[in-house]
Order: sequence, then structure tokens, then C-alpha cells
Amino acid sequence: LFVNATKDSTTTIPDTLFGIFFEEINHAGAGGLWAELVDNRGFEAGGQATPSDIAPWFILGDETLLVLSTDRSSCFEHNKVALRMEVFCDSKGPIICPAEGVGVYNPGFWGMNIEQGMNYKLILYLRSYNPINVSASLTDSTGSQTLATVKIIASSVSNWTRMEFLFAAEATNPNSRLQLTTTQSGVIWFDQVSLMPVDTYKGRGFRNDLFKMLADIKPAFLRFPGGCFIEGNRLPNAVRWKDTIGPWEERPGHYGDVWDYWTDDGLGHLEFLQLAEDLGALPIWVFNNAISLHGEVNTSIILPFIHEILDGLEFAKGDASSTWGSVRASLGHPEPFDLRYVAIGNEECQMKSYRGNYLRFYDAIKHFYPDIQIISNCDGSSQKLDHPADMYDYHIYTDANTMFSKYHAFDYSARDGPKAFVSEYAVTKKEDAGTGSLLAALAEAGFLLGLERNSDIVEMASYAPLFVNTHDRRWNPDAIVFNSAQVYGTPSYWMQQFFVESNGASLLNSTLQASSTTSVLASAIIWKNTDDAEYYLRLKFVNFGSGTVSLKITINGVKINTKSSTVTTLTSNNVLDENSFDKPAKVAPVKAPLTADVDADGKGMVVTLSQ
Ligand code: AHR
Repeated sequence: LFVNATKDSTTTIPDTLFGIFFEEINHAGAGGLWAELVDNRGFEAGGQATPSDIAPWFILGDETLLVLSTDRSSCFEHNKVALRMEVFCDSKGPIICPAEGVGVYNPGFWGMNIEQGMNYKLILYLRSYNPINVSASLTDSTGSQTLATVKIIASSVSNWTRMEFLFAAEATNPNSRLQLTTTQSGVIWFDQVSLMPVDTYKGRGFRNDLFKMLADIKPAFLRFPGGCFIEGNRLPNAVRWKDTIGPWEERPGHYGDVWDYWTDDGLGHLEFLQLAEDLGALPIWVFNNAISLHGEVNTSIILPFIHEILDGLEFAKGDASSTWGSVRASLGHPEPFDLRYVAIGNEECQMKSYRGNYLRFYDAIKHFYPDIQIISNCDGSSQKLDHPADMYDYHIYTDANTMFSKYHAFDYSARDGPKAFVSEYAVTKKEDAGTGSLLAALAEAGFLLGLERNSDIVEMASYAPLFVNTHDRRWNPDAIVFNSAQVYGTPSYWMQQFFVESNGASLLNSTLQASSTTSVLASAIIWKNTDDAEYYLRLKFVNFGSGTVSLKITINGVKINTKSSTVTTLTSNNVLDENSFDKPAKVAPVKAPLTADVDADGKGMVVTLSQ
């Protein structure tokens, strides 16, 4: 490999090149990054009609002693459904309740992670015509071990009453549940039952360990909230941002019919913008463009959809005196968010109404926000777009060989039009990727080297999907796997760590010469951190072949400080190796001092790339 590190041999990689794409898929948010522990906290999962689907709430106790039903008596206008619990036993007879009481429990999203010494905030709304005496407790999955209890006693709750308690957990169990029980006959209504760990990232509601995984790959941008999630199979199930802001109790929630689960939308529009800000990433809002997977609205009548999006932009960007900016300010964020990009839809380029709808959104947004960069989802990598756009979206899910060969995907793309946003890429062929293999990561790394090399035209790239709750794998593979208490990165996650310094770095001219095989790819970047006097040089190699490769590297223009140089390797015995909860770092980067045979002048060395 010959690397030319002289000044006239560099190009600057965009600051935005590598980021992340968060979609509400695989319970990534509900039961994932969003730390709410109660699933279906408002009993609305079945929709607004009653009887409603209260799963995963369960009856606790003998079914002849209590009846659970739902009615529309809630104090929340957009969430009228409430749980009605009628109890037929008492502590005084004639039918005596069991000592442990009867009631309901919620196991959360496949078990709640409760940790000894940590605090959990319970908020609930209830009412009853009688005085109440309820126990709220955190127990193991069978109810036999109690981790924390609070007593809910009130003499007068005939009107809906908000109550808040703090649990201090006395034991640890990643598969806990929340129980609400009583030993008194009568009727109690419950609604909006929430249990949150007190310790979330900056108290914002983001699960600490999952947030850290995102922060560690230093994303330059956050694309959200979908994906097909924003489309919906049917339009009524698409995401409508206004339903996802404001007090959590009043958010209607919605059924994401593409990935087939209910979300309470605790992780809403404001939380996504906040997440981006907390990650130091630029938000990229993907909105529904009046098209769902199985239905579209004719362009002539999409004005209400356009107003909705303009309001959303004002919510994010307007100052605190504007109509929607003031709503944002009232929700605790007076400063506008740095929203510079929006995507008009996700993957609807082939749909009948796409262009018509797109142009209406485009014109309206550019009229009111001329600086916003607009992303079309028609691929402009091989032919020019037939409509105006600042960027075009490019999605690729394929086998490992094809992905590796896509190193060249943008070599011949037009340089004079919109930039490319590779907002979803992954090796997905089952035999190659499994649930996240080294082979997939290597192929993707080759693809990313091509994006670096073409970063005069490629502005942004993100892997997809980002998260999977191991209990709800709607899509394989994914970058980050978790359950209620544990998390690990797949090789594709770790692969991205090799690119964290690329954003804004200088790409050096480098040439793989002569006998090097076509299965080896390389790149060289150089950058300087603000407070450091010295520059950092990173050479990246991908060996996609089946043999060991010995590389002679010559670097022109800089002298390497070999003493502080390191080599980081992502490899394993078998290319199909994967990580797991038991072996989370089976395929993870290993960093070691550079031991390569370095020439005396520090300009040349020989490294060996294992197969
Ligand atoms: O990343 C999973 C899905 O793949 C996304 O929802 C969609 O945009 C693509 O088809």
C-alpha cells in the first residue's frame, strides 16, 4: 500500500458521513432505549374501543374473586380506556381474600430489570367509590419473591387521582414484574400506570447502557423514527408527530402495524430531537408523506399533511414566540433544535403519488425553511433524479459478496446533483449474516471504505436496523442486541467503531499496488483533535479473502511515532462467528501496540492481515 500524506493529496470527508438510524422496530424504543418498564401502561393497546386488549396485564389470583374489564371512563381525553377491577373478596368476609391479595400484574417487556439499591418511580391514576388499600410491589416473575413494596391507601378517591411512589429495590431480578393487589372488595379503576428507573441518561428516560452504545460510535447524525414505521401498512397507523408530544399520560400511543406492536409513544418527537442533541448528532426527521405501504392520499388533497409537517418544523426550529416553538418551550426546551435535514418519506419512490406529493412538500418546506436540506427517497446513484432534492436516499440489503463489491457503488455517480445518503445498509442474506456475523461486518466495512473514497458525493451513511430486543426479532441482523438487562454489539456494530474518526477527517490518497488481491481494501485518514499538537493517522484494511495477506506499507509525507501507535483488529476463528449474551466480545475489536516491522525512517512497515 502506498499512502501519500502530503498536503495536496487529501480530500476532506464530510463531518456528517457516519451516523445512526433509529427505527421503532424490534422493540428498539418501547421496551428498549425508552426506559419505561410497563408495557401498555394506558390499557389502550387494543385501540380506543372497549373491550380493549389489556395484554400483557394479567389477572393475579383466583378468577372467581375478581373481574377485569375496560371502559371509557379515563380522565384523559385522548386515552379514554381505563382498567376496571372488580373484587369480590375481602379481609373480613364473607369471602376472604387470600393473604397476598388479588389484582393484576404487568411483566413489562419480557421482564422488568430491577436492580438492588436502585430507585424506580411508579406513577398511576386511580379512582374508586370506596376507600382503597392497594399494595404495589415489584416481584420476581412468579410473584414469590418481593423486591420492593409500597402501600396505596386513600379514603377518598371518587375522582381520578394521580399518585406517585418511589420503590427502593432490595434485590436484583432482570425478570421482575409489577403487581397491584388488594384484599378489599369493591371496584377500582386504574389508568396510565408507569414505572421508570430513576437512573436514566441525564434523567431523560433513555436507558443508560443502550444510550452508551450509541454515544460510543460518535454518530454525526440521527435519522428517526423510521423506516417503514413512519409509513404504516395503513395510513391511520403511520406516525403522526403531534400525537407523540406533551404529557405522556395524554399521548394516545399507536399500533405500529408494520412491525406489529403497540407503542405508548413515550419516545416521541421531542425525545428524538433531545436524543440527537444529547448524542451531539444532527437530527434527520423522516416524516410520513401521505403514503403508507398499502394506501396513498391523492396529491390534490394532501394540504393537511403539509400543514402537519410545517408545524413539526416550527416545533423543532421556531423560536419560543412562535406557535409551535412556544409549545416546545413549554415542554422544557426553549432553544430551537438544530434540525437541518428532513426526508420526505422512506421508500415510496415507486408509488403513484410519490412525485406529486413530494413536490408539494418540497415547495412548501423550501418556501418557509429555505435552508433545510430535503432528502428524496428515489435513488440517484445511477441516474439523475427527475425532481429537485438536496440528497437522495440509498438503501442496500444484500449478500456479503455483493456488499463488498459495492465498494464501487458510487464511483460513477453524478457529481453535479444531489448528494447521496446511504441511510440503510446491511448484509442480510441469512447464510452470510445469521444474526450478525464477522463476514457481514467485513463486507460492510469494504462498502464503507468505498463511501469514504466517494465522500465527495456521499454525505451520510447509517447501518440498519440499529437495535433488537432479543424477544422480538422482526429483522435480522441488527447492530445492537439487548434484553431487559444486557446488551452486546454484533460485529457490524464493532465494525462501525473503525470509522468513528472519519467524520471531518482528511482522506489521504492511497493505492494498493501490484500483487495485492482484489479481496483486500484499504484507506488512510489523517486528523487532528483540537487540543493536540500532533496529527493522527489511521490506516484501515479489510481482508475479505480466505488467505493471510502480508502488506508492505509506504507512507509518504509524515513520520510515524511508532511508540504510541496501535493496531486494532476485528477477527475471529470463523467468519460466521457471532456475539451473544454469553460471549459478547467473541468478535470485538482488540487493540494492541503496533509491532509491525517498521523502517528506520518511520515511513514504511510490513503488516500481516489474517484471513
Ligand atoms: O431496516 C428495516 C426496514 O428496511 C426499514 O423499515 C425499511 O426502510 C427497509 O425496508
